[in-house]
Amino acid sequence: MATRIGETHEGLEGVVACKTMLSDVNGNEGRLIVAGEAIETLARGTFEATAARLAGALDGVHRDPTAMRTSLGEQRLRAFAFVPTLGGALLANDGMDALRGAMSQLRAADVADDERNTFVLAATSVFAAAWARVRVGKAPVAPDADASHAEDYLRMVTGSTPTAPFARALDAYLTTVCDHGMNASTFAARVVASTGSDVVSAIVAAIGALKGPLHGGAPGPVLDMLDAIGDPARAEAWIDGELAAKRRIMGLGHRIYRVRDPRAFVLERATADLEASGLKTPRLALVRAVERLATSALARKYRDRPLHANVELYTAILLDAVGLPRELFTPTFAVGRVVGWCAHVEEQRRSGRLIRPESVYVGAQPAAA
Ligand code: COA
Repeated sequence: MATRIGETHEGLEGVVACKTMLSDVNGNEGRLIVAGEAIETLARGTFEATAARLAGALDGVHRDPTAMRTSLGEQRLRAFAFVPTLGGALLANDGMDALRGAMSQLRAADVADDERNTFVLAATSVFAAAWARVRVGKAPVAPDADASHAEDYLRMVTGSTPTAPFARALDAYLTTVCDHGMNASTFAARVVASTGSDVVSAIVAAIGALKGPLHGGAPGPVLDMLDAIGDPARAEAWIDGELAAKRRIMGLGHRIYRVRDPRAFVLERATADLEASGLKTPRLALVRAVERLATSALARKYRDRPLHANVELYTAILLDAVGLPRELFTPTFAVGRVVGWCAHVEEQRRSGRLIRPESVYVGAQPAAA
């Protein structure tokens, strides 16, 4: 297709960059399908089951979730052996800087082809958890290969075996964020993969993209926002002040969704399940009030652009409820999303097509001779 001068797609909005068998985001109806299954159904299962589905999706096969669990456990142990070699990477102040630095020290050649993706998944969780320990002056905790991925991640972060409801809630979270169409970090991974580069390089690029507050960096600021509001009675005035100052309300709005993000429903329910199991989650009532008031304030301000809760609003509440520090929220997002990144890297590699868009030059021209 020839590009006409002056025709651009800022932010690539509405541009279809590829066909994919991995996930389908329907922004008007608020539906998300991952590897042939609705996200609401997947979130009732395990992270391992969804990882197995995504791993087999390109070949149309259903991989065995139990084998995935065994393999992930083995690979977490293998990844933990790399921790002492990561040096200064884990000393970074920011968790995403640490994860990017740690992952970049892996070489794709460190593991056999058929185990590479599982190793990358395992390393993401082991390195994120190790950073969480190192930042508070504690020694990294070795993985338990027999535990589920979600349970072991919580254990490696906190140092103790989580209760079943906590492990279940984190399992639902990791599953819910595993893949989501052509989001910025997945696109970044595919661009790198399209050049013929290796999976580790593609994942490092994706981590860099996920870090930004307009993508995966929002849940920490969501909690900061709830702390600043403190009480539902103060929410309306606080939101009005932010909008008057032209600041964005974190956890609301989405490039694709014109209705409430389906993942917000799943995570809200998973957090409510935690409450039903006996855990007090006072922030759940607060966030519900903030969502209601912010949605109406945004509707009054942007009459033509529906802005609703996105995945990050309830991510913040759920991850806080299971005991993760807010600094670890975005690295934990990466622990789930890395499954999708790896599958997209493989899909892009199979397509063999270099991603190379064009730009319209609007700079100075050489002086006429
Ligand atoms: N709070 C206040 N205003 C918002 C907003 C929010 N959360 N989200 C969008 N807007 C405003 C924009 O500033 C823009 O206003 P303008 O025309 O006056 O500049 C208008 O709504 C249209 O924005 P839109 O084109 O829909 O934004 P986008 O598609 O470029 O951005 C997000 C989508 C997610 C980046 C954006 O909604 C946002 O920044 N949300 C807050 C951060 C967040 O929660 N990120 C996690 C995403 S999963």
